[in-house]
Amino acid sequence: MLKGKFIVLGVTGSIAAYKACELTRLLKKRGASVQVVMTESACKFVAPLTFQILSENPVIKDMFKEPSHWEVEHVSLADKADFFVIAPCTANILAKLASGIADDMLTTTFLATKAKKVIVPAMNVNMYENPVTQRNIEILKNYGCHIMEPEEGFLACGKIGKGRFPDPEEIVEYIEKIAQMQEDLKGTKILITAGPTREYIDPIRFISNRSSGKMGYKLAEAALERGAEVALISGPVSLEPPPDLQIFHRVETAVEMKKKVDELFPWADVVIKAAAVSDYRPKYRSEHKIKKSEEEVFIELVKNPDILKELGEKKGDKILVGFAAETDIPESNAREKLLKKNLDMIVLNDVTKQGAGFEVDTNIVKILYRDGRIEEFPLLSKKEVAHLILDRIKALLKC
Ligand code: PMT
Repeated sequence: MLKGKFIVLGVTGSIAAYKACELTRLLKKRGASVQVVMTESACKFVAPLTFQILSENPVIKDMFKEPSHWEVEHVSLADKADFFVIAPCTANILAKLASGIADDMLTTTFLATKAKKVIVPAMNVNMYENPVTQRNIEILKNYGCHIMEPEEGFLACGKIGKGRFPDPEEIVEYIEKIAQMQEDLKGTKILITAGPTREYIDPIRFISNRSSGKMGYKLAEAALERGAEVALISGPVSLEPPPDLQIFHRVETAVEMKKKVDELFPWADVVIKAAAVSDYRPKYRSEHKIKKSEEEVFIELVKNPDILKELGEKKGDKILVGFAAETDIPESNAREKLLKKNLDMIVLNDVTKQGAGFEVDTNIVKILYRDGRIEEFPLLSKKEVAHLILDRIKALLKC
């Protein structure tokens, strides 16, 4: 998987820096080109010459004092990289990366690269468990970085707990898994809907809901990372669509969303409906702003089309995935929707739980299948949930 890949290996100032020597050797053995970038403190733990010999490349340490024969600067290095691995990564560097600080060669190159990013934190257990470090890890996960969990065990500081640098062979396997993931949905066309709809009462007021679009946008991002062709139809949200999208449409109302979804349905192999579509819309939309002269105003509502249910009726061999945002008797409601809409699976978020559902960057989901199976997951980032859903879609595509 790594043969011919260009890997930038960032080494930071942790006692585990010596284990990055073995990591360099293993990556070279797999056929990758390795360019080591060290922070100033990393050089206090291991001599750059060791990495230079193992990687067969001069080590980069300083933004401004490059060896004369070495002409690379941070942007070209960032462009060239297939993977940017930081192993070990200290709490200090994690914090810099999470807040976009770029004050040395490693952090500057990291900020400039579009390569797959893999971070292997290694530190004292208290530092690792500190809420600030955990927040930084969450931020980086949400920016699409792959964070390998440290191991539990005896730490160099004398404590026992989580924070140990994993075995270098396991790190290589982790990177290989990500490399493999890049291509595993190649050739699959995925239509995703995200965000709320707005059902206008007059030119200014509308009925809507709290959907931020985050879940749907993370699905689009994750599917692109895995090589799928992605069409995203989005309700009004304040998110930027992923840059490499094949098809993107912004819509406002449920009727507009239905029109776009119907147009793209023949193109798609898979449809994931993460959008929170308004079930009703005002029967009449006032042309002018409704004045407050009346004591009471009655708004008559009519049913919107059920976009997903109609797709279920003409499903064929396409994979249909629904979402359900529920507050009461969640599982039976979700199962009912799964069957009524003829879906392959439905992702249930119990929106009464903290950290789940609308607006937040995390979610707590259960996935329900037609055969009665239910899978339950802990609190995860929406990006992680997106990958879980795509893993299950991949398995269904193979059947
Ligand atoms: O956007 P975020 O802030 O990240 O929040 C994510 C989310 C909570 C919005 C999302 O994860 C979610 O649960 N979306 C679906 C919420 C919902 O409206 O569920 P529902 O039970 O009303 O609809 C069930 C399914 O039918 C959904 O896939 C929905 O897109 C679809 N539907 C519903 C009504 C309708 N008229 N047409 C539809 O296609």
